[in-house]
Amino acid sequence: MRYKYQCIDEFEVLDLYKNNPDFDSWYEIVSNILNSDEFQKRRLFLHHENESVWSHSIKVSFNSYVFAKNNGFNMYNCAIAGLLHDFYTRAWQDSEELSQLDDKYREKFIHPRKLKLFEKHGFTHPIEALENSREYFPEYMNKNIENAIVTHMFPLSLFTDYKMPNCTESFVIMYIDKKVSWTFDVEPKRLVKYVGVTTKQKGLNN
Ligand SMILES: [Fe+2]
Ligand SMILES: [Fe+2]
Repeated sequence: MRYKYQCIDEFEVLDLYKNNPDFDSWYEIVSNILNSDEFQKRRLFLHHENESVWSHSIKVSFNSYVFAKNNGFNMYNCAIAGLLHDFYTRAWQDSEELSQLDDKYREKFIHPRKLKLFEKHGFTHPIEALENSREYFPEYMNKNIENAIVTHMFPLSLFTDYKMPNCTESFVIMYIDKKVSWTFDVEPKRLVKYVGVTTKQKGLNN
């Protein structure tokens, strides 16, 4: 695949999985989204620590797909919901690379304002990801994929209009998202950053 944007990660995440026996069948499901210009912009979005939204979303999608396969769940829904669960528009953390994109992606930094607790990223980004997925990839949407995207931050989703995960795929995405994100010990004081309530952490100025 040719990419328009140089990824902020030092490696191509697809290389982690390309020799896996499940890679080809997974790739067939997600390739149109991966090849789209809009999704490739996530190569420039900084997610947890030093990982792009691109890499994180691919990890969640592929691992959810394999988990679903091994447990007899809906593999297609898990692959798509995993890929789109963090497909929000307004970047959460600023980076130099984002200046290559339209200002709408840096809206939080161009027009900063003090947010109330329930307006913070951890509560709002699943809803933004759902709306954005409906806009760019409506042909992939169904009830379960939408629920999995919008409730992946459960229990924070209890404080939004969407409330509870209501299908197996939602629980898979919720579990795998946390599993691939928390691959090392997170100090308690950094937990608020992990759940999207603040971007502040030691050593970062944002
Ligand atoms: Fe998320
Ligand atoms: Fe995520």
